[in-house]
Amino acid sequence: MRKRVVAGNWKMNKTLNEGLALASEVVNMVNDELTDDVSVILCTPFVHLSQVSRIVEGSDKVFLAAQNVSEHPSGAYTGDISVDMIKSVGATHVILGHSERREYHNETNSQLAARVDLALNNGLGPIFCCGESLEIREEGNHVRFVTNQLEESLFHLSEDDITKVVIAYEPIWAIGTGVTASTEQAQEMHKAIREFLANKYGADIANEISILYGGSCKPSNAPELFAQADVDGGLIGGASLKSRDFVDIAKSY
Ligand code: 13P
Repeated sequence: MRKRVVAGNWKMNKTLNEGLALASEVVNMVNDELTDDVSVILCTPFVHLSQVSRIVEGSDKVFLAAQNVSEHPSGAYTGDISVDMIKSVGATHVILGHSERREYHNETNSQLAARVDLALNNGLGPIFCCGESLEIREEGNHVRFVTNQLEESLFHLSEDDITKVVIAYEPIWAIGTGVTASTEQAQEMHKAIREFLANKYGADIANEISILYGGSCKPSNAPELFAQADVDGGLIGGASLKSRDFVDIAKSY
């Protein structure tokens, strides 16, 4: 059966000391309180990774992710971070294709396909983000838009590799806005994503792939979102910056 995952995307927040304090609080609370079989992933800024990795390494439930990776293995790419660098500081996962990267850094589906390959070939688990704008939803094209993102960035993968990808559906209109997708909207899209995966890879493989919801997820709405049949956890932004809220979300199953 597929894994339940709750990942906290810190985005560009927290100084190093603040981040270390937050990571320690989360690890302690998870160790003390989280009895369910849920993987918790901290997606920290690059500069925090090596020290946060020492905090999470004793935990069998808390893992570490970078928020992006270059599609180039190494070389003259000032300011970029390679997959080897990320692995060398102890991260096991990487967020790819967050809507903020797509919007502010013009990341494209084909560029993301190359990053997915590089991550998988080097043993990093991609958390692949997809999601539509409000305009696209209002036109009624949201399912087609999201499935196209998946097709162009993931559908070249083998059966073995696609099961190593965690998909995060994050409607752009719900990110940081306080407006959460309704349970019906979330389930509709997650089900459509799983059916799309099943058409390509078969139902057994589609049922193994974790699909997370992201967008104004908080302790008050996580239980009903996570209760949906095709919602396997969350990618949490703002609420992941408070240890109590984040761990309460992870306990929402
Ligand atoms: P918020 O939870 O702050 O809406 O952010 C969601 C998100 O973008 C996680 O990657």
